Amino acid sequence: MSMTAYNGVTIPGFMYGTAWKKETTTRLVLQAVRAGFRALDTANQLIHYDEALVGEALVRLVQDDVARNGLFLQTKFTPVNGQDHRTPYDVNASITTQVHQSFESSLAHLHTEYLDSYVLHGPYHRGGLGPEDWEVWRAIESLYASGKTKLIGISNVSAGQLALLCERATHRPMVVQNRCYAAFGWDKAVREMCRTHAIVYQGFSLLTANREVFVDPAIRAMAEKYGTGVAQVVFRFAMQVGMVPLTGTTNPQHMADDLRADQFTLTPDEVERIETIGI
Ligand SMILES: NC(=O)c1ccc[n+]([C@@H]2O[C@H](COP(=O)([O-])OP(=O)(O)OC[C@H]3O[C@@H](n4cnc5c(N)ncnc54)[C@H](OP(=O)(O)O)[C@@H]3O)[C@@H](O)[C@H]2O)c1
Repeated sequence: MSMTAYNGVTIPGFMYGTAWKKETTTRLVLQAVRAGFRALDTANQLIHYDEALVGEALVRLVQDDVARNGLFLQTKFTPVNGQDHRTPYDVNASITTQVHQSFESSLAHLHTEYLDSYVLHGPYHRGGLGPEDWEVWRAIESLYASGKTKLIGISNVSAGQLALLCERATHRPMVVQNRCYAAFGWDKAVREMCRTHAIVYQGFSLLTANREVFVDPAIRAMAEKYGTGVAQVVFRFAMQVGMVPLTGTTNPQHMADDLRADQFTLTPDEVERIETIGI
């Protein structure tokens, strides 16, 4: 399965997330790609990710004949309020310079000359968009214009902020990456905005943000019906409503299980049941 962004670039239909793996990052990325994942998500933010260790895995994968162009690499620019003292840029430089420094350091960490997707980790402002948000977005747009990244996107964004970007940006985001709570209709407002503007929606914390779903009798019955686990029912649901799900599993068996989520199809009634489960 794959999705196509509005500029024609293809995105694999399931992503492997590299957050919180610390020193196991290289081993887990190798396991994930060997299991079959072809899209990797990381960030140039040492609090939660280790891009350089993702890069070590990529170097080793070339020896396994997994070429760079067979992988989809996505990383993020994290503003200073999301970093600790280990910022990958000069905090006293302009935001534009910070983006360019962070981007170049991501390329070096990942041993690549281009990215498939470059994402703003989150807006500077909570409500609306301020001057910093427009400066950071223009800098990210310039990386897209230079051809160094095939897609650009934004994470942790509200429907209102996304509407503003779509209205006023030169290039609206091609991807959005958000936390997906069943209690908010699985981020329904943002997903609808994405559908309206042909933006690919990536959902994270589908499992960790929705523990109550794991014990729901209707979902458990679906898992039993399809001979699978609740996690795969959630990922399959995500795919069927048009999301690209992320999984952050550290377990090789779960990697294999999660990748089998596209091997059954929920009925429209089942999709509707899950869509409204937490509301
Ligand atoms: N943009 C952002 O601000 C942001 C924030 C958070 C995350 N992310 C991205 O999203 C990625 C995924 O993170 P997440 O929190 O969304 O991960 P997740 O997949 O929702 O949760 C991972 C948890 O689910 C469990 N799990 C996965 N597959 C399972 C299965 N088949 N059966 C049972 N348990 C299963 C894992 O346990 P096991 O390890 O035991 O399998 C782990 O405890 C991150 O790595 C990161 O790339 C982005």
